[in-house]
Amino acid sequence: MKIELAPSILSSDFGAIRSQVQEMAAAGVDRIHFDVMDGQFVPPITFGAKMVADLADVGCFLEAHLMTLTPERHFEDFVKAGCKGIMFHVEASSHPFRHLQNLRQMGVQAGIAINPGTPWTMVQELLTVADLVLVMTVNPGWGGQAFISECLGKIRSIRHAAPEVDLEVDGGIDPTTLPLVVDAGANIAVTGSYLMGRPSIAQAVQELRASCG
Ligand code: DX5
Ligand code: ZN
Repeated sequence: MKIELAPSILSSDFGAIRSQVQEMAAAGVDRIHFDVMDGQFVPPITFGAKMVADLADVGCFLEAHLMTLTPERHFEDFVKAGCKGIMFHVEASSHPFRHLQNLRQMGVQAGIAINPGTPWTMVQELLTVADLVLVMTVNPGWGGQAFISECLGKIRSIRHAAPEVDLEVDGGIDPTTLPLVVDAGANIAVTGSYLMGRPSIAQAVQELRASCG
């Protein structure tokens, strides 16, 4: 199975964001992951759809991870900005089934995200309308946190229930934890602080790819 890498721009230097995203694309990553935080669902505030629009010309698959309340209010803006995938939190929505249907109708990959403290069965009934499940392997809100290994069971359960769904993991991914999540069934991995902490983005991408064969 091909493992996709999805660098998060959260750990990037926002003052040099264009060149860093270009470096990610040149290193052959599969997606660029935009962490959108509203200061309500999670304490920090990051950026909105304009960030995506301004970087849409880099030519990568762009995805928005909405850590916001009432995420459905933002779908249209992020689709217009150039996102090909949007994921929102099951904990932030009263009507996730309908919102996933709407995302599919808008022609983008429909993703549902789930926090470490939420049982996997919260997304069970959504698996028929979700193209992707984003399993948080840290508590959302900040980059650079330690991987929560208790989440591995959740990844296995979702993979068992939905062999075909795209299963993405987010938080604390490095060459040690990547093989664990891949073994549990993940096929897409977000990576933030590891990527920016290495001498070069290209080297970090190589190290991550080598770690999971
Ligand atoms: C956390 C974000 C993640 C995070 C990943 O709320 O969703 O995308 O920035 O960063 P690392 O790889 O540093 O855990
Ligand atoms: Zn994220």
